[in-house]
Amino acid sequence: MSPCSSAAARPLVMLALLPMLGAAACTGRPESVLTRLPQFPAFVHQNAASIALFRDADAGARETPASADRIGRLGMTYHAYRFSDEARRSYEVARELAPDEYRWIYYQAFLEKSVFDFSAAESLFRRALDFDPDSAEVWAELGDLYLSWNRPDDAVESLTRALALDPTQPLAALGQARLALRTEDWTGAVALLTPVLDGHPRLSLAHKYLAQAYDNLGRGDDADRHRSLGDYGSAIETPLMRELHELSIAAILEGDDPSGAPALMQEKCTRCHTSVRIEETQRDRRWWAGTVRRMQREAGWAWLSDDQAASVVDYLATREAAPASR
Ligand code: HEC
Repeated sequence: MSPCSSAAARPLVMLALLPMLGAAACTGRPESVLTRLPQFPAFVHQNAASIALFRDADAGARETPASADRIGRLGMTYHAYRFSDEARRSYEVARELAPDEYRWIYYQAFLEKSVFDFSAAESLFRRALDFDPDSAEVWAELGDLYLSWNRPDDAVESLTRALALDPTQPLAALGQARLALRTEDWTGAVALLTPVLDGHPRLSLAHKYLAQAYDNLGRGDDADRHRSLGDYGSAIETPLMRELHELSIAAILEGDDPSGAPALMQEKCTRCHTSVRIEETQRDRRWWAGTVRRMQREAGWAWLSDDQAASVVDYLATREAAPASR
């Protein structure tokens, strides 16, 4: 156990004093915290607004090096921009200062999963479940992790736990449906996925799996309908992850030159899907900024810089959308 976490073992009567004790124990060696905080990475693809965000978060953490909250927040900022090493360093310091804080365990679990460190992610999700054993969301993430890890038996166990807690947990239903498709249980897949669409009507993967199931059941019309909806749609995001992703949105709300955006989008936005839905969708600036950030997280900042993203957002929020084709 780290010197900073020893406060957790003190008697219960001192609980109210714990934050102060923790601080006292750790401020004894604030330099050590300071040296362990990440150095700034090279901000090659970030704009001034993003860099200001990092400077503020970093200054906040260094000002009070015993504050797990501020250090965790710094980790979230790095995480939202996919600076994984810097995010990990921050979360680890935050977890050492506040070993019982759920958020830093949770966020680091997602981080490790996203960089395919499956065993680190597994132990962190399990630790999160120690705190919140009835979280359908975390059981679903763990099951999804086992699916990626090719551990189907463990996946079934976790996904079943998740669905017992919440039968429409979208990630758990998707995972369980994927396993049903593997064993050619077409009606099982339909039964798992149909209720999920009520809450998540544009969940692409659900439509893709349903198309496959209906094809095999000989229901071509239903298969075609779901295939067209499965082209691309929304992703699943947990509330805590949404809060993290939100951190990066403001920095691309203020694009000032949309003139290059159509050509840029022609090159960049047709890499993974068609532009049909982009053309027919009319949403506000914040929605577009959130969506473009999601695409950046998929494809990376080297693919689309902050300046380019801001100009695309400006264009999409101000143009006249084409009428919906379906
Ligand atoms: C790296 C691949 C990739 C690139 C590049 C990409 N997208 Fe996407 N996009 C996706 C995926 C994957 C989804 C669907 C996510 C899902 O359904 O889980 C999606 C979905 C969408 C949606 C539907 C969102 C919704 O909630 O309805 C829009 C709009 C969109 N993309 C716009 C764009 C724009 C604009 C660009 C260029 C700036 C772009 N995409 C570039 C992968 C990409």
